[in-house]
Amino acid sequence: MDDLVAPLFVKEGIDAPEPVASMPGVVQHTQESVRKEVRTLADLGLPAVVLFGVPSRKDATGSQADDPNGVVQVALRSLRDEVGDDLVLVADNCLDEYTDHGHCGIVDPVTHEVDNDATIERYAEIAVAQADAGADIVAPSGMMDGQVGAIRAGLDAAGHTGTAILAYSAKYASALYGPFRDAAECAPSFGDRRGYQMDPANGREALDETALDIAEGADMVMVKPALAYLDVIAAVREAFDVPVAAFHVSGEYAMVKAAAQQGWLDGDAVALEHLLAIKRAGADFVLTYLAREVAERLRA
Ligand code: PBG
Repeated sequence: MDDLVAPLFVKEGIDAPEPVASMPGVVQHTQESVRKEVRTLADLGLPAVVLFGVPSRKDATGSQADDPNGVVQVALRSLRDEVGDDLVLVADNCLDEYTDHGHCGIVDPVTHEVDNDATIERYAEIAVAQADAGADIVAPSGMMDGQVGAIRAGLDAAGHTGTAILAYSAKYASALYGPFRDAAECAPSFGDRRGYQMDPANGREALDETALDIAEGADMVMVKPALAYLDVIAAVREAFDVPVAAFHVSGEYAMVKAAAQQGWLDGDAVALEHLLAIKRAGADFVLTYLAREVAERLRA
């Protein structure tokens, strides 16, 4: 339970939390409901949350991602006010929730290619806005080359030398992110993410990507998804000394919930078994939509 980080979605412009159909038990929060939820999570003893924003206005540069009044920045300030230092606040750093085309970067309108270098400049600006708003950790998830170095330089130049970076280092182009794209309303309107995410057939590339991120200044690294990549988690744990995270992603969560709803398996038991396996493989901490229910059960 000390190792579980709860991902939370905060949506702009809604009056009440909205359930995510493909992720039973997960909602898109209002500012008010996310504050209540985080209070509950802190009281349960969970160590951290990671925030994803769903803005009401999307555009080509994802301008809401680093607007001081953007949905995640507003939430960060409010949550810091609510929980003080009781809980670590992590901000997902990416553009897909904020761009009108749903890609993780700045896209050339003619070629539809992602412009890597323009994108990492935006990531650095977003990181500074998130740190200004109170994020303890920024977590770049876009898989652009050089993103960690650009973010570290941007944070340091803005005086945020103490803000840590949790790098999604080994993030595979997985079909298991489907429900997340419903929750974050960020399915790409054309193409896919295989240009910047990793090929699931390639295990060793994970070590190269992770080494690069650490050299660029990552304080912690992440493997994602988790269960189909336990070998990668173990290899990364073996090769590096920094803390290793794993993301038990939306599709992994949805499969457990769907089967449990059908009565086909014992969802509570499978949930714990999944998390145990991820820890056994070598993850120091796990980002999981199961965080709250597992914490509640472990405390009961
Ligand atoms: C991208 C991002 C994604 C997830 C986390 N950050 C989606 C994607 O790459 O398509 C997926 C997490 C999940 O499936 O739970 N900002």
